[in-house]
Amino acid sequence: FSVVRRQESSSSSVIRRSFFSEANPERKVAILGAAGGIGQPLSLLMKHNPLVSSLSLYDIAGTPGVAADVSHINTRAIVKGFMSDDQLGEALEGSDVVVIPAGVPRKPGMTRDDLFNINAGIVKGLCIAIAKYCPNAVVNMISNPVNSTVPIASEVFKKAGTYNEKKLFGVTTLDVVRAKTFYAGKANLDVSGVNVPVVGGHAGVTILPLFSQATPSTNALSNEDIVALTKRTQDGGTEVVEAKAGKGSATLSMAYAGALFADACLKGLNGVPDIVECSFVQSTVTELPFFASKVKLGKDGVEEIHGLGSLSDYEKEGLEKLKAELKSSIDKGVAFANQS
Ligand code: NAD
Ligand code: LMR
Repeated sequence: FSVVRRQESSSSSVIRRSFFSEANPERKVAILGAAGGIGQPLSLLMKHNPLVSSLSLYDIAGTPGVAADVSHINTRAIVKGFMSDDQLGEALEGSDVVVIPAGVPRKPGMTRDDLFNINAGIVKGLCIAIAKYCPNAVVNMISNPVNSTVPIASEVFKKAGTYNEKKLFGVTTLDVVRAKTFYAGKANLDVSGVNVPVVGGHAGVTILPLFSQATPSTNALSNEDIVALTKRTQDGGTEVVEAKAGKGSATLSMAYAGALFADACLKGLNGVPDIVECSFVQSTVTELPFFASKVKLGKDGVEEIHGLGSLSDYEKEGLEKLKAELKSSIDKGVAFANQS
């Protein structure tokens, strides 16, 4: 019995040491919209992430149940649920990373921009609270239309005097996840070793996968294949919306992608070197004020924004084509945030 006890206490002290070591500091992650289609599986995945010590689950309804459920999983993060406006401050206080999947999803026949009227107000309200309660947090914006909600967040933070362009990210990871899956499938490659940068924004033609830079490269794909892969990546969200036939948009693949991106942000904050992900950020890569491209993540958020690299003629054309729509979505967000 004593041997068993000694083993237990020595292994738990090892665990304790690793939990609080410098490489694995305490990190609080808040999920706003945690009881939704994305929020629930994302809460599960973040509870599973050993980098998270405190997980704060906020929604306008349903969070007590989600938090009670997720909290029983025997992993590091201490889980707390928060519901309604008066608990939002407590949910946010001390957060290192805030992930926002709050808002309505598309139904068949809608564009992401059709969500603007509802989601812009939701995002604005949540960002006002972030500026007040955790102004230094890294913000991962999932709510659509991302091309407008990120500019809304930036304007809200500017007004509050808390804007740090290095800490605001539009989550475009799902586009990369899709591009990798579709490319590997078509070229018959092991998807686990595949990488495809996706740049631009997160809606229709503003999503620009750079298959010319995909690794490993392949001779197996024709120009027609590349055109079809590009279109499938751009329409990936719509493919899911139609398949769900009125029951919402991507939730499980988005939770996976959101968890990947939040993990990359946490690793960057913790000083893990060479963490690079595509994300929609304030940018000078093009003449547009926000643009998705490869971003190196560090202790203060964005450490470096990579340029576009060399593009095929088809990609150059796609880049020129996306600018007008992306600009108008950005302008729409900025204008909304500055309405009195
Ligand atoms: P959902 O309706 O299932 O869940 C949304 C949740 O947000 C609900 O639980 C709702 O109660 C909550 N909510 C609403 N107002 C809130 C507020 N003020 N504060 C906190 N929570 C609030 O929708 P979903 O399928 O989870 O999608 C959420 C959003 O994510 C949509 O806008 C969708 O378009 C977007 N999305 C983005 C991507 C991406 O790649 N960036 C991918 C998929 C979905
Ligand atoms: C996606 O790409 O799946 C999301 O943006 C949701 C949508 O409306 O398509």
